[in-house]
Amino acid sequence: MTDRRFRIVICRGPECGDRRGSAVLHEAFRSALEANKAREHAELAWQSCFGRCTQGPNVLVREIVTPEPGGFTGGGFATLPGPRGLTALYNRIDESRAGPLVVQHILGGQIVREFIERPAPTGIGVVDPVASRTKDTLK
Ligand code: FES
Repeated sequence: MTDRRFRIVICRGPECGDRRGSAVLHEAFRSALEANKAREHAELAWQSCFGRCTQGPNVLVREIVTPEPGGFTGGGFATLPGPRGLTALYNRIDESRAGPLVVQHILGGQIVREFIERPAPTGIGVVDPVASRTKDTLK
């Protein structure tokens, strides 16, 4: 049995929230923790948005790491530096995935890679080299 502790952070932002059932997902994680006798190893929390809305519902599972004495603790959980431990942002999580995440990540100490997607391309900062030329430069 693990002695690690985790925070399971479920997105309830505008896309992951009511539209994709984050409240049901929160309850599924609570049930999975109790069913697997893992309640003392994880706490549940909410997040407003992880910026990965098209791949939601998104769930961050972050190990709660006690920093070294005098070390930087980090102030946030998703964007600020600090001890990360065994941490992953999971995508397209539904009720059926809550149990496997509790068993494999929380109790087993393994990242569940099949529940992680690459960030979706945003198009921001991507420039089409032909379309971006002006009439003058195309002569
Ligand atoms: S609303 Fe969930 S990642 Fe943006």
